[in-house]
Amino acid sequence: MNAAKLLDQAEKKPRNLSHDEILELLSLEKQEDIQALFRAAYQIKLHWIGPFVSLRGLIETGNVCEKNCYYCGIRKDNNSVERYQLTESQIVQMARWAFDNHYGSLALQSGELENESNTKRFESILRQIHTFGKDDFGITLSLGEQHLEVYRRWKEAGAHRYLLRIETSDPDLYRNLHPEDHSLERRINCLYDLKSCGYQVGTGVMIGLPGQTLAQLASDIQFFGDIDADMIGMGPFLPHHQTPLGKTLQLTPEYAARQLLLGLKMIAVCRLYLHDVNIAATTALQALASDGREQGLLAGANVIMPNITDTAYRKNYQLYENKPGLDENSESTRQKLVENLADIGEEILWGKRGDSKHFFLKKEKEM
Ligand code: 5AD
Ligand code: SF4
Repeated sequence: MNAAKLLDQAEKKPRNLSHDEILELLSLEKQEDIQALFRAAYQIKLHWIGPFVSLRGLIETGNVCEKNCYYCGIRKDNNSVERYQLTESQIVQMARWAFDNHYGSLALQSGELENESNTKRFESILRQIHTFGKDDFGITLSLGEQHLEVYRRWKEAGAHRYLLRIETSDPDLYRNLHPEDHSLERRINCLYDLKSCGYQVGTGVMIGLPGQTLAQLASDIQFFGDIDADMIGMGPFLPHHQTPLGKTLQLTPEYAARQLLLGLKMIAVCRLYLHDVNIAATTALQALASDGREQGLLAGANVIMPNITDTAYRKNYQLYENKPGLDENSESTRQKLVENLADIGEEILWGKRGDSKHFFLKKEKEM
């Protein structure tokens, strides 16, 4: 089928593409077809969300991680990383800054830790943030795999969104990217647990992994639909030299351009397939091009997560190399972002939580 027909078909209603059709869109090569794909995705974003961007002030609360993913710079066995954990009061202070500066939402992210003291620590942090943020301040957690009870406790303490990427929906590829004791099945079960607790649930994958095929990426998009995700956070894979997967890879300009293009295509096809979910234009896009996140918005994304972690710690939270914004302070990052967005006709929804439309429309349908 030609690209224009497929785009029309996708626009009519969500999930109106087969696996082969998703694959066809991801495989588009001609400049004019790719531009038509981005335009169509942006139109759907405008229809459901308008020319608006929601912010999540991102706090990287600590880089201590019990896991050993082969691609990640803060994996447990990377001894070159200086490990840190922000204190409760540091985190609450940064959250207060985001609230006072009308970010509308916060995202707390860290390496994965499963123990009672970590659970209690975040419970306490969430309670403190809730005292000033009340229900007007969105809180997304990205703290990895946990038991159902832990998810429940954090929800009760004030969190209401949770982002847990599955990295890839393909079991064989997953096995190649992780040690044996890391389980895709458990990760997927965690997504169901999160849903059962009432979170707005986000997931995502890495894009352009060594050995990954476009057919696998097409299946990832179908997976997002099947699990009925409310939010999507995904980004291009970027090599890190202190990791098993990245140690021999060079981020040449050609490689960077390919990764960026594939990342943008994934955003666009996700928007075309899922319509009303929140989709983040992630920092990994910005690592590949200074205007990568803006390009992500124009391909259908509607969320940006500016890093508001104290700059002193940012260099120790490098999942991949070339992480942007390491030397910027939060105030200057914000100014720059506002200007860049105005240039592309997008406006920040200051002070709004920017919840997933999909989540609430789904709830309405259930009633
Ligand atoms: N390149 C891109 N993304 C990465 N992540 C981890 N390592 C890398 C990398 N080398 C992503 C994973 C993880 C999220 C926190 O960061 O998808 O879920
Ligand atoms: Fe830990 Fe996440 Fe990095 Fe894996 S990707 S090593 S779980 S921080």
